[in-house]
Amino acid sequence: MIAAIVAAAGSGERFGASIPKALIALGDRTLLEHAISSLSAVADQIVVTAPAGFEDQIRALVGDAITVVTGGATRSDSVRAGLAAISGAEFVLVHDAARALATRELAASVVAALRAGDVAVVPALPVVDTLQNVGADGYVVTAVDRAPLRRIQTPQGFSYSVLNAIHQGAQDATDDSTLALNAGHKVRVVAGEERALKITTPSDLATALTFLGDATTFSTGVGVDAHAFGEGRELWLAGLHWPDEVGVEGHSDGDVASHAICDALFAATGLGDLGSNFGTSRPEYAGASGVTLLKETYVLIASAGYSISHVSVQIIGNRPRIGARRAEAISTLSQALGGAEVAILATTTDGMGLTGEGKGIAAIASALVIKR
Ligand code: CTP
Ligand code: MG
Repeated sequence: MIAAIVAAAGSGERFGASIPKALIALGDRTLLEHAISSLSAVADQIVVTAPAGFEDQIRALVGDAITVVTGGATRSDSVRAGLAAISGAEFVLVHDAARALATRELAASVVAALRAGDVAVVPALPVVDTLQNVGADGYVVTAVDRAPLRRIQTPQGFSYSVLNAIHQGAQDATDDSTLALNAGHKVRVVAGEERALKITTPSDLATALTFLGDATTFSTGVGVDAHAFGEGRELWLAGLHWPDEVGVEGHSDGDVASHAICDALFAATGLGDLGSNFGTSRPEYAGASGVTLLKETYVLIASAGYSISHVSVQIIGNRPRIGARRAEAISTLSQALGGAEVAILATTTDGMGLTGEGKGIAAIASALVIKR
């Protein structure tokens, strides 16, 4: 049996996000999900080490077939926590969630070396930069011959007994091959992959995106809507009710910002428009609120394989004043769109045009969507 431990318990301090690095999205999936998918073809059992407090969220993300344990203070502690959840394995792969794009083939080549008799196996790449030792005074001390040097990656593979033995104490190193080497084991090197880079900073994430290449496409769309003011109507705009404002005419709630966003999303995904999806042929949507239409649009585009990168909407009119309720509106629209990033802007038109003359409200939206 082959088991795999995914080290995902780091906080991602150098990345600087407000969530653990393993939960950051790369294309349409988190780094952790990418890392798991590269192991699932070769491993019979997968154990994920989660940052304390994120166990349930990660369990919900990875499903019941994967064991989730709480990681430790250092990477080595986390690997030990993962190892404790494994029994009966002949070989164990240890992989960093941060090396999200390592391929299945890389995992398979590590396993092949284990099957051929090696007890510790690492993927590695040559070094391309010139290397020098630099003193504390800022001057070069000696040049280093880079020819024999390698950059060590994961997934690394070990016989269960070796991995278990090197983790008996409380040793700490940035990877497991270093512990195996220190314990006197022979560490076999196999060819690594540029795409198995360790995602450490936001610029690494941008590099990783380029490796997803053709599999990921981005598209944009624009949507516009306008409604005339109508006495005696309630105003709904950007998903919010505006009590002391004049509302707009229309069969729906007349939420021009929500409608413009729906059309921008339909435009970006090529799935028609508001009329073709929720028009007169679908009477169940007659009078639907802007937020309901946003939610329905989100379901339609998500089931067609799209995820939303960003949506922005600009409201054009003399009233209402958006600024004071901007945060509330952003959070309402974002929730309706599955947590997508939303920006809301507002402008007047210097007294010109229909909205400048105070006859109504308009909105223009744009959307960026991703498909894998
Ligand atoms: N890791 C872990 N437990 C820790 C620390 C790190 O499981 N206590 C994991 C990380 O989640 C990551 C891998 O080890 O997948 C490699 O670590 P690194 O890239 O340094 O990630 P972080 O420690 O999260 O990042 P930083 O050092 O910037 O905080
Ligand atoms: Mg770290």
